[in-house]
Amino acid sequence: MTKLIKNGTIVTATDIYEADLLIQDGKIAVIGRNLDESGTEVIDATGCYVFPGGIDPHTHLDMPFGGTVTKDDFESGTIAAAFGGTTTIIDFCLTNKGEPLKKAIETWHNKATGKAVIDYGFHLMISEITDEVLAELPKVIEEEGITSFKVFMAYKNVFQADDGTLYRTLVAAKELGALVMVHAENGDVIDYLTKKALEDGHTDPIYHALTRPPELEGEATGRACQLTELADSQLYVVHVSCAQAVEKIAEARNKGLNVWGETCPQYLVLDQSYLEKPNFEGAKYVWSPPLREKWHQEVLWNALKNGQLQTLGSDQCSFDFKGQKELGRGDFTKIPNGGPIIEDRVSILFSEGVKKGRITLNQFVDIVSTRIAKLFGLFPKKGTIAVGADADLVIFDPTVERVISAETHHMAVDYNPFEGMKVTGEPVSVLCRGEFVVRDKQFVGKPGYGQYVKRAKYGALMADQDVVKMS
Ligand code: URP
Ligand code: ZN
Ligand code: ZN
Repeated sequence: MTKLIKNGTIVTATDIYEADLLIQDGKIAVIGRNLDESGTEVIDATGCYVFPGGIDPHTHLDMPFGGTVTKDDFESGTIAAAFGGTTTIIDFCLTNKGEPLKKAIETWHNKATGKAVIDYGFHLMISEITDEVLAELPKVIEEEGITSFKVFMAYKNVFQADDGTLYRTLVAAKELGALVMVHAENGDVIDYLTKKALEDGHTDPIYHALTRPPELEGEATGRACQLTELADSQLYVVHVSCAQAVEKIAEARNKGLNVWGETCPQYLVLDQSYLEKPNFEGAKYVWSPPLREKWHQEVLWNALKNGQLQTLGSDQCSFDFKGQKELGRGDFTKIPNGGPIIEDRVSILFSEGVKKGRITLNQFVDIVSTRIAKLFGLFPKKGTIAVGADADLVIFDPTVERVISAETHHMAVDYNPFEGMKVTGEPVSVLCRGEFVVRDKQFVGKPGYGQYVKRAKYGALMADQDVVKMS
C-alpha cells in the first residue's frame, strides 16, 4: 500500500516548505499540496519536520579492537541508529596485511547480512599497497561499490600505515575514483609519548589525552593534505577534534584542494576534563583523537557553520564500561578506544546546533545527510527528499524536551557519554525505503531488512559547485 505523509514541514539541505509526500514502492513518488488520500495509509506529521534520513559515514560495528570486540553489532547498532534518525550507515571494513581484500569484505558482509535494520555500505581499510592490493582495488570499486578507502596514520603496530602507503593510496584513489579517508594523528610520536608516560608511572585515563596532544593531530592532518596535493587526489579527514586540524583543512581548501572534514558530536559538546572523572569513569571518554580543552568546541562549531568542516559522523565504536573499558585499569593504553554515539548524533546537532542558533536548519540536513550522500556516492538516491529518491525519512518533533540516558537508549552498552544532557527535538518515526523502522517511538523494523548499498565513484554524482576542479 502507498503511504501519504501529510501536514509536515519538509526540510532539505536547500529548502523548507509545507507539502505532502506520497510514497510508492519504497520511493518518493509525488510531492505536493493536498494530495489525494484515497487508497493510501495516511501518516499525520502535524507540527513535525520531515527530513531525509540521516547518513552516518563513520561506524565500527562488531569490530575487533583493543583486545576485545565492539559491543554493538549490526543489529543493535542499526536499531539505535534508526531511533536516532539515521537510515543509512557506512561501516569500516578492516583488512589484514597479506590477506585478499575480497576475504575481508566477505567477513564484513557476514557480520551485516540478516542483522541490519537500515541500509548500509562499507569503507575499506588500506593497510598496505602491494601488487595484489592494486590488482584487487578496481574490483572493489566496480563489483562491491566500495568507493572510499581508509588509511590510519595512528595506532602504531595495530592499524597504522606509513606515509608511502598513504601516498600510493591517494594516487590509486585518484585513478579509480575513490575518496581517501584518514585518521590523522602522528602515531609514531604518540607511541613515544605513551611509553614515556607509563615509564613515569602515569596510568590514569587522562594520560590518554595528554599523550595525544592536538599538535599531533594538526601535524598529521597537514601532512595528509600535502600528500593529497602532490597526488592531485581527494581526501576526507575523519573525526576532526581540534583547532590545529581545522586550520590545516581550511588552508588546503583555500588552496583549492579537494579536502573535506568530518567532526563528531562528542567533540562539539564534551571536553578533556571528562577523562578526569573519578573511579576510573574517565575511561568512558577514551577515544582517539581524544577530547580536547573546551575552547576547541567553538572552533569546530564555526568550521561547521562556515563550511570548513562539512559532515558529522558518530565514530560509533562502543564498549561496555564493565568488563571492556575496565581492561585498562592501571594502564590507560589498554582502555579500548571508542564510544557509543550512533544514537545521539542527529539530535545533538539539532539541539546544540539549530536550536542554539549556531547553524541553520538547512545546514543541519546537509551536515547529517545530504553532503555525506554526495561525498560517498549515494546522492540523490539517498540524502534528499525528491521524486524518485528512496523514501528514507525522519518525522522529527522539534519541540519535545528530553534527557539522554543509558536507561532509555537502544545501544547495547552500559553507559552513555552524554548521560544527563538535555536536548530539544526527537525523531518520532523513521522510514527506510518507505517502511517504518521506528513508528511513534517504537521499534517496528526487522533485522535483515537493511540492504547493502553499492556506491558511485567519488565526484560522479556531485554537482559542479561541490567539487573543486583542479586545472
Ligand atoms: O577511538 C576511536 N575513534 N575508535 C574507533 C577507531 C577510530 O580511530 O576511528
Ligand atoms: Zn580513527
Ligand atoms: Zn572511527
